[in-house]
Amino acid sequence: MKPRVLLGITGSIAAYKAADLASQLTKLGCDVTAVMTTDAQEFITPLTIQVLTKNPVVTGLYDEKQSWRPGHIHLADNADLVLIAPATANILAKLAAGISDDALSAICLATRAPILHAPAMNGKMWSHPATVRNVATLTEWGHQFIGPEAGLLACGYEGLGRLWPVEGIVGRVMELLKSNA
Ligand SMILES: Cc1cc2nc3c(=O)[nH]c(=O)nc-3n(C[C@H](O)[C@H](O)[C@H](O)COP(=O)(O)O)c2cc1C
Repeated sequence: MKPRVLLGITGSIAAYKAADLASQLTKLGCDVTAVMTTDAQEFITPLTIQVLTKNPVVTGLYDEKQSWRPGHIHLADNADLVLIAPATANILAKLAAGISDDALSAICLATRAPILHAPAMNGKMWSHPATVRNVATLTEWGHQFIGPEAGLLACGYEGLGRLWPVEGIVGRVMELLKSNA
């Protein structure tokens, strides 16, 4: 059976790179279902991701109209891996606080699959004590992180906050899937 990857996409300028991620993971044989926050949809359309993953995209908690079973719980239970790329400061804060007020955060709270974050944000957001604390809390709970890397950021500053290169994220996902198989 194909490994099932839930790809969480949040509201960062780096969200356009999630299209490449979705495409590469699908070509490598993963069954990718994307879950996009409302803010992510300001940066990239669900249609693009739907075509690349060949699966419907979850855009809200109330999408499920077919089944009696809440769609987000079904996805959470059946995922082999949750990848959040890009992961905003906001989603890290929500998850570290146990907030579950949208599809992505609810899935992350409900799943027992490994969760890998590829953060992308302004360098000062990344180094803020709130984000540092949130990353530490999530790490303590077993969440994993890849990046960010240093470089020129979309906000115009140099710093640590760029999304890790897509090929590197894809490689880590495949490694994790293999080690948990
Ligand atoms: C142009 C633009 C770029 C943004 N880029 C980022 C980013 O790279 N990282 C980040 O943490 N927030 C970024 N934000 C702020 C988030 O979109 C905002 O915190 C939002 O509430 C995140 O929601 P979400 O985590 O539910 O997707 C950006 C906002 C704008 C308008």
